[in-house]
Amino acid sequence: MTLTQAEKAAVVTIWAKVATQADAIGAESLERLFSSYPQTKTYFPHFDLSQGSAQLRGHGSKVMNAVGEAVKHVDDIRGALAKLSELHAYILRVDPVNFKLLSHCILCSVAARYPSDFTPEVHAAWDKFLSSVSSVLTEKYR
Ligand code: HEM
Repeated sequence: MTLTQAEKAAVVTIWAKVATQADAIGAESLERLFSSYPQTKTYFPHFDLSQGSAQLRGHGSKVMNAVGEAVKHVDDIRGALAKLSELHAYILRVDPVNFKLLSHCILCSVAARYPSDFTPEVHAAWDKFLSSVSSVLTEKYR
């Protein structure tokens, strides 16, 4: 899934804002994921998933850090996330369906924080970008 130049530019622009609150947005996205789709909690039996827990915040930060790497390397998301792709496919074996759910929750968290920046064009570009990240993270399954 290739992003157009305009879509890449929109992703970079919204990321400049998201990056300033990436940890909070990461934690909020996970809180949304676990409360809207409780089945996703089964991948984290070793975590304290209560709202605001240190583990949840730490993980949210890691996830957003990886999203930031993908933004930085938007022309080579596959290369930027190669290790994570192996981790999710070979070790964690997260069902690909869950990536759509997390992407949706990240999208909601960003939209809720930056409503006036989240135009239909930005929405579409950010959605396509998160789909590309998810495709990369799920392409090694076999
Ligand atoms: C671990 C990113 C989707 C479950 C991680 C790590 C990162 C990451 C950066 C830490 C890797 C490390 O410590 O070396 C992402 C990104 C995602 C995504 C960018 C999609 C946008 C998912 C989904 C699930 C999931 C959908 C399951 C619902 C896990 C689990 C771990 C993990 C269980 C290991 C946690 C631990 O024990 O510390 N992910 N992830 N990930 N991810 Fe994902």
